[in-house]
Amino acid sequence: RAPRTAWHDQGVTLQDSPFLRACRRLPVDHTPVWFMRQAGRSLPEYRRVRADVPMLEACARPDMITEITMQPVRRYGVDAAIFFSDIVVPLKAIGIDLDIKPGVGPVVAEPIRDAGGVKRLREIEPDDIPFISEAVGQLTGELGDTPLIGFAGAPFTLASYLIEGGPSKNHEHTKALMYGEPELWDELMRRLASITLGFLRTQIEAGASAVQLFDSWVGALSAEDYRTSVLPYTSWIFGQLSEYEVPRIHFGVGTGELLGLLGDAGADVVGADWRVPLDQAAERIGPGKAVQGNLDPATLFAPWEVVAERTRDILARGREAEGHVFNLGHGVLPSTDPDQLQRLTEFVHEQTAS
Ligand code: CP3
Repeated sequence: RAPRTAWHDQGVTLQDSPFLRACRRLPVDHTPVWFMRQAGRSLPEYRRVRADVPMLEACARPDMITEITMQPVRRYGVDAAIFFSDIVVPLKAIGIDLDIKPGVGPVVAEPIRDAGGVKRLREIEPDDIPFISEAVGQLTGELGDTPLIGFAGAPFTLASYLIEGGPSKNHEHTKALMYGEPELWDELMRRLASITLGFLRTQIEAGASAVQLFDSWVGALSAEDYRTSVLPYTSWIFGQLSEYEVPRIHFGVGTGELLGLLGDAGADVVGADWRVPLDQAAERIGPGKAVQGNLDPATLFAPWEVVAERTRDILARGREAEGHVFNLGHGVLPSTDPDQLQRLTEFVHEQTAS
């Protein structure tokens, strides 16, 4: 079970948890904290569980999903769990031949670059991913008052993996299709938006109490390209999700120039990486939104005094926002010392306790 903490003992319900309150821009008794990639190779208990199990197999086994999702909650006492899965899991579930290669990331057997390829992207049905609902159900039971964040990859980031066939620095094939074949791009993005929505709906309906839409690589685009070629599809997803009352978080890397548009897409919370000071990020995102972020994950390799100093600065800037969820500016790096994350979690709680 999740560790019992002061606010659990006070009998505060899930909906009153600091994480959900901060997402809703309500006053909190401490700034909530969780870490992108908090479950993963930085944890010895994760490496042990995963030792003989390939990533995509682990993502299809409810008991394994539950165990791995719980690991950082138990260890750190973070304010939210993030569902253990991957952005390519729904693509795999509809029959796209892909794998996740250790140290590389998702690799697609036959990259999608024409109309025939796009047609292979069919809608996702709950029956394609029974293990997701089952794991979410187990988790909400175990987590009690700790919120579970569901997630999905956003259409642009998924499109990049599918079109490039794997991780990409320049996204050249993706941009070639986006600029050169706008109608095919539209069809591709519509289909991906529908898959993304289906994956998020499944998690929400099974009990996830917030969702994060990762558009990790969208920072590769100019604001104008984002507005015309990406924004319509992400705003459709967020619009469709408004029927649920779960907070919607949106995040991408290198999105300093896009933060206002990421907010316009309809999220309740916008995550920023470390390149923009958090108060400026909040200003760019605009009113009516909470912010999430934004300690550089590499800072955790510096002496603790540096981590403490930078964290204090982020917390001070976060007070300028209407709501602040503390996080890193991107995922935990695999060689991070878990003790640093433990200390950081405690430090944020202590510094912001009212
Ligand atoms: O703790 C969590 O954050 C929850 C689990 C999670 C994973 N992937 C597990 C994972 C989440 C939220 C993701 C999302 C994801 N996957 C994103 C968006 C977030 C981001 O980092 O920007 C992206 C771009 C991917 C694609 C992907 N999958 C990459 C780039 C990698 C890393 C490759 C590597 O080995 O360095 C993966 C694999 C992956 N996904 C791992 C984990 C724990 C590592 C697998 C392993 O242990 O070998």
